[in-house]
Amino acid sequence: MDTGILQYKLVRPGLLKEIIWLNEVSSTNEYAAIHNLGSDTLVITDNQTGGKGRFGRVWYSTPGKNISMSLVKSFRIGVDEIHNAGFYTSLKLLESILNTHAHLDEKLALKWPNDLMLNGRKAAGLLMDCRDLKSPVKKIILGIGLNVNESEFDGEIRHKATSLFAETGSESELEGQIVSFVNEFYTGIDLISDTAALMKKWRNRCCHIGMPVRFRLLSDGEEKNGIARDIGNDGSLKLETEDGKLVSYYSGEISLILSGMKIGT
Ligand code: BTN
Repeated sequence: MDTGILQYKLVRPGLLKEIIWLNEVSSTNEYAAIHNLGSDTLVITDNQTGGKGRFGRVWYSTPGKNISMSLVKSFRIGVDEIHNAGFYTSLKLLESILNTHAHLDEKLALKWPNDLMLNGRKAAGLLMDCRDLKSPVKKIILGIGLNVNESEFDGEIRHKATSLFAETGSESELEGQIVSFVNEFYTGIDLISDTAALMKKWRNRCCHIGMPVRFRLLSDGEEKNGIARDIGNDGSLKLETEDGKLVSYYSGEISLILSGMKIGT
């Protein structure tokens, strides 16, 4: 990875304060938390050996092929707005890919709560960590895993995951994607506090409103089918269950059901 270009394009103009490049690290999120890194710091690695996904899952990435990074950012937001950071980041990640791959417009979408989908498969995930819940300024670690040049997906993710390479047939420069994301992230960042506008934009890119989904509440393994009616401004999934009730869920995950097949994670 050419970290010089990242310094030149992201630190010199004053977007980021610091970029920490690590040849190898267990998890960039964990590194940012342990070292109590300050706002506007980006941690990137070529080889994340213990990458973490949501709900304690493993996030695997072939060394040198993809983007594994954590952006530390402080926001003056309330506890009830912390989820905005996830919706904002996933939206900006999508827009940053459109900047470099405009032809993927029709294929890029968001899946609740923070997944980036490409042609119906997961191309990126977000893991957030916020420990300043009581402080008016909340420092959030935004951990992003974006599959860029990955060509093989094994095991249970084989039919659920994809990458920019898998969809376009050509390799993309990791540096260019990182620069595009950071620029996009810092453009119009006040949107994070304008919940109604943010969620409207997010919903416009959501791939499952009005669609049949299978919902999993990972805390207790509960699973149910229903129709994903909406995403509330509070970040909740509004699921119409099979018995006709509209239930709000604040955590969990969904897979789309298309003619009997489940799509995505
Ligand atoms: C998910 O389960 O969808 C979230 C995946 C998040 C992976 C990224 S890779 C960089 C950062 N460091 C981690 O250990 N996880 C996140």
